[in-house]
Amino acid sequence: MSSLPTFSPLDLAQALDGLHPDLRILGPGALAGRHPGEDAGNLDAGVMAQPASTEAAAALVSWCQDNRVAIVPHGGMSGLVGGGVSHAGQVILSSARLNRVLAIHADEETVEIEAGVTLEALQAALQPHGLTTSIDLGSRGSATIGGMVSTNAGGILAFRNGVMRHQILGLEAVLPSGEIFSDMTRVVKVSAGPDLKQLLIGGEGAFGFVTRVVMKVEPIRPHRAVALLGVPNAARALQVAARLRGHPVLLLEAAEMMWPRYVRDHAALKGFDLSWLEPDAAILLMEVSGESGEAAMTLLEEALGDLWEATELKGGIVAQSSDQARRFWDLREDSGFYFARYPHAPSFDVSMPPSAVDDYVSGLMARLAAIGAGFDAYVYGHIADGNLHIAVAEPGPLPSDLKAKVETAVYAGITGSGGSFSAEHGVGLEKRSAYLAHVDPVKQSLARQIKTLLDPKHLFNPGKVPF
Ligand code: LAC
Ligand code: ZN
Repeated sequence: MSSLPTFSPLDLAQALDGLHPDLRILGPGALAGRHPGEDAGNLDAGVMAQPASTEAAAALVSWCQDNRVAIVPHGGMSGLVGGGVSHAGQVILSSARLNRVLAIHADEETVEIEAGVTLEALQAALQPHGLTTSIDLGSRGSATIGGMVSTNAGGILAFRNGVMRHQILGLEAVLPSGEIFSDMTRVVKVSAGPDLKQLLIGGEGAFGFVTRVVMKVEPIRPHRAVALLGVPNAARALQVAARLRGHPVLLLEAAEMMWPRYVRDHAALKGFDLSWLEPDAAILLMEVSGESGEAAMTLLEEALGDLWEATELKGGIVAQSSDQARRFWDLREDSGFYFARYPHAPSFDVSMPPSAVDDYVSGLMARLAAIGAGFDAYVYGHIADGNLHIAVAEPGPLPSDLKAKVETAVYAGITGSGGSFSAEHGVGLEKRSAYLAHVDPVKQSLARQIKTLLDPKHLFNPGKVPF
């Protein structure tokens, strides 16, 4: 807002110093040279507040209210849509020191944690109890639970367990008013009025700063088998996944698909041997769990043999060691490889009913080719829930007319199919125009009214999701 007084980062750091005993302030000197995470602009505010308690976060927020200073909430800085980008005059509110696992209720399969715990740290803390998270994603080492709540993250297990929203039983947050919203229920069933914590889940830091959650977890299933399969299309991949979901013993743990260009270029870069794969096939990465590693592998091989012809598989290999399984997964999870070749390649994260994927992908390729010679895309994603990641094979940022054409090509038919222009990465800065174009106007208006009610000065993560 134009009426905001501007503090320099140094002024802000000095003013905030000593505000609360549990609050650590890092000024421009301390932040200089720090890695900004996925977006070069994440640390541009030059001042970061790191509370070690909810009360310290509330004290910071109240001060910012009184002084009209905008707040940019930060988790692990692994967001992919610029939701953590900050500017001079703002304060970054980081969950880095809210990193305690508060209680593990092993019998009831729930955990109480602070928002800055990374997904990987939570998995490590749960491991001795025979438990793990019921959500998992490639950036587990940096992504924090608070950030995953704020973007309503999805990942690999969403086809089976749902997304972040479905794991959260309770939540505590500091609201823009400085009040502490505390709804730390530990049960699945609460029928006591509207579930207002849902505003904070997927709220991208616009409605408050998440400090704690109660999350569902599940037993570890350590005995795994992993296969790479050549598939002609998504329909066949979905058939393979459905057959394994119906398996009497094996449990399907992942069904990830990579389309031919992604497979070809990534395998070439990694020196990955694809001699077993028929040319121009896509790849389905499947992981299953069973009663022992050997049993999982044997049952998987048998199951694949049974469905081989009916699903027109184009070759396949089952990992013979955990190292080999890791290499299969690297082919899928090191997905940013194309940015080295096409810096700032325009990238997208869309969802649709899985049955719509084949028509969508062939339509997308045709629409891109119609934009200009050589327009093509890397396509890969979580096929079992219809979530595709798309990176156009062009260096970005594109000039605005071309950008608009690419967005039209990517988003065509998505809303009409019952899908979403943003599946699991959020809106942030980058998907603002898509939000305005594709979200129901009544829903947009309601979101704006709620935003104004909770944050009348628009101090929480301004300029991101267009409220
Ligand atoms: C993935 C991230 C980009 O699935 O969502 O690789
Ligand atoms: Zn993903």
